[in-house]
Amino acid sequence: MGRNVGLNIIWICSIVAMLSIIDVSEAADYTVGDSFGWNVPTNESFYIDWASNKTFFVGDNLFFNWNGDHMVGIEREATHYDNCNTSAVGLLIGSSFRYTIPETGPYYFLCTVGDHCARGQKFSINVRSLNSEAPSSPQPDSAAPPISFGILVAFFSCFALHMLTTTFKV
Ligand SMILES: *[C@@H]1O[C@H](CO)[C@@H](O)[C@H](O)[C@H]1NC(C)=O
Ligand SMILES: *[C@@H]1O[C@H](CO)[C@@H](O)[C@H](O)[C@H]1NC(C)=O
Ligand SMILES: *[C@@H]1O[C@H](CO)[C@@H](O)[C@H](O)[C@H]1NC(C)=O
Repeated sequence: MGRNVGLNIIWICSIVAMLSIIDVSEAADYTVGDSFGWNVPTNESFYIDWASNKTFFVGDNLFFNWNGDHMVGIEREATHYDNCNTSAVGLLIGSSFRYTIPETGPYYFLCTVGDHCARGQKFSINVRSLNSEAPSSPQPDSAAPPISFGILVAFFSCFALHMLTTTFKV
């Protein structure tokens, strides 16, 4: 009986530890353009500058907020982005929305309304997997810490519970 309970607790410990690991890779939230939102900027480099010092990971959320007439086009290839060709954007979504980055690799965002893209309402990012962090480059606040305090707490709580149940042969 005591042995079975011990085995069950090891299973529970494993599940708790896995849930802790999932918690470590918590996604980062970004408001595109920060307080300026998703609008036509006064200079063409605004969104490129905004994105340039950030590292994006799969599962991160991009929030596009705007008033007035804008759209978000999402492209996976550079050609249409470079010349603001909005006739072939991969995805069009109206009104404010949240985009959760599904995969690694390049993403190109542009406004498909009028000449907004040509006036700088566009940016590209290169999305990395959580396992591919380069240790030498400085990480923004989106980077997950390598070791979670939660994992240690979960591990030692489970271990303590295991010792208690084996000691008292519940
Ligand atoms: C670029 O445009 C943004 C948004 O209009 C503005 O906040 C920022 O000051 C501009 N930067 C420069 C260098 O003009
Ligand atoms: C825009 O993209 C479409 C679809 O790929 C293409 O047929 C068209 O020639 C492109 N236009 C320009 C100006 O590049
Ligand atoms: C990125 O740049 C912005 C403004 O230029 C600054 O406020 C922010 O702290 C920078 N982030 C990092 C991670 O360097």
